[in-house]
Amino acid sequence: MTAVRIHEVGPRDGLQNESQVVSLDDKLALVERLADAGLRSIECTSFVSPEWIPQLADSDALAARLPAREGVEYRGLVPNLKGYERFRASGRVHRAAVFISVSETHNKKNVNRSVAEHFDRLVPVIDRARDDGVPMRAYVSTAFGCPDEGRVAPEAVVKLTRDLVAAGVSDVSLGDTIGVGVPGQVHELAAAIGELIPLERIALHFHDTYGRGIVNVQAGYEAGVREFDASLGGLGGCPYAPGAAGNVATEDVVDLFERAGIDTGIDLHALVETTAWLERDVLGRPLTSRVYRAEMGRRERHRQKAEAG
Ligand code: HMG
Ligand code: MG
Repeated sequence: MTAVRIHEVGPRDGLQNESQVVSLDDKLALVERLADAGLRSIECTSFVSPEWIPQLADSDALAARLPAREGVEYRGLVPNLKGYERFRASGRVHRAAVFISVSETHNKKNVNRSVAEHFDRLVPVIDRARDDGVPMRAYVSTAFGCPDEGRVAPEAVVKLTRDLVAAGVSDVSLGDTIGVGVPGQVHELAAAIGELIPLERIALHFHDTYGRGIVNVQAGYEAGVREFDASLGGLGGCPYAPGAAGNVATEDVVDLFERAGIDTGIDLHALVETTAWLERDVLGRPLTSRVYRAEMGRRERHRQKAEAG
């Protein structure tokens, strides 16, 4: 057991926001590289409508080809029973996650339903997972703010989380979908949700839109949370939350913890190599992780110095 658990969401949250289609082979290579770098929990895809998220339209094919890796857990998002059936049919994805927003406007844009309607559709999905012995995570989106409605009341986050826990989810990830959260909010929500379920069953999911992803991870750690979602290179965003930037970068989270002597079990060097590959050979555009950029700069200076003799 590592001191903190980093749940990699790059292949799902990261790629869902990319307009340029990434090939199935590249997606599989990404998952392999992440596993090689030491990630033990990887969100590989979503079993959502291909009309809504065309980038992940290959989720059944991807799931069928996921390499069996000792100790590596694959996860996939499911928006409804149809998605859950696809997840089950894959046979290779170990855990599923439902998602629901606290704010009505974002939920409607994301899943075409009011919060109450969507919740009612999730209950049988959560029931099925329990019957099948599948741990079901719930993402509580817009927990720190909504792109359309602005402030989200912490009481509303607590109420929705309480309902999800009562419905039988195994763990909850509090999503800062548009990256507006501040450390005080992280402390407040972690304490309030920690009254409902043990802190070991809470994860934090920060987007880095306003550059506060990493301070919010630190705040979450200080508040006692030990699981953090992150995305290689800082990829990511929700296509139904305009302006949302990428997730907090996995490299930045790993570097933060490792330099503080907190074991992540992840090889930063291998992560940096993977981001370089993704940037150069797959996406062809610069990725934003600060630690990645600093490390590439350091390597370049080193190379120039060596060349200069
Ligand atoms: P809808 O159009 O209302 O669906 O979309 P519907 O139930 O009316 O069905 C319409 C058609 O879609 C039917 O096909 C269904 O079979 C099909 P037809 O009969 O017309 O041929 N369909 C599906 N096909 C494949 N897989 C499915 C599925 N469901 C229905 N699972 C729906 C409703 C929920 C499906 C749609 O809105 C959807 O897929 N939304 C997903 C949006 C999404 O993936 N957003 C990003 C993930 S959430 C996120 O990023 C936030 C997070 O990172 C945390 C954070 O940052 O806060 C998790
Ligand atoms: Mg997200």
